[in-house]
Amino acid sequence: MFRYLCAILVLLFAPMAALAIPAGTEEEILERIEPVGELCLQGRNCAGMLGDRAGTDATVTAEQPEVPSDAVADTAPGRSGQEVYARSCFACHDAAIAGAPLFGDATQWEPRIAKGIDVLLQSSIVGIPPLMPPRGACMDCSDEELRAAVEYMVDAAR
Ligand code: HEC
Repeated sequence: MFRYLCAILVLLFAPMAALAIPAGTEEEILERIEPVGELCLQGRNCAGMLGDRAGTDATVTAEQPEVPSDAVADTAPGRSGQEVYARSCFACHDAAIAGAPLFGDATQWEPRIAKGIDVLLQSSIVGIPPLMPPRGACMDCSDEELRAAVEYMVDAAR
């Protein structure tokens, strides 16, 4: 009996399985799953890969951007407090998301400002679990940039 049941099930489902295969020839399927791009590493001749688009000599050469030797993070002028705020902090502080002190709201900021800017900066750097993220989620912000952002927020709330 069980065997008959299995046979009936197979007969029932086999045509359905055939229908489930998307229409299209094998070439069409291969075309669809072809890689969308190929990587050409610097210094390699990739003329074949680039085809007619790049003419005959398609050797990839590196364009060296001119980097002034003194342009290191700690000497470069940082972003302003307003820029940092607009990029990283406003997402929560502009709408008091998750209990974040609202930007420009003197009542909400008053007890925090009373702790002093250094304490506020410190809690901005380490974060306040669970909802104020370390560095206000600006992982590439320097301490100076964070200080500028805190000062910008504090000034707006005075
Ligand atoms: C994901 C949301 C979120 C982001 C993004 C965020 N904050 Fe906050 N922030 C909070 C919350 C929530 C609090 C309140 C935490 C508490 O007091 O429990 C807070 C509190 C603070 C405080 C008060 C700290 C204190 O000691 O009272 C400062 C200052 C602050 N944030 C600065 C920043 C700065 C600067 C940025 C951007 C670089 C930033 N925040 C980005 C959610 C956020």
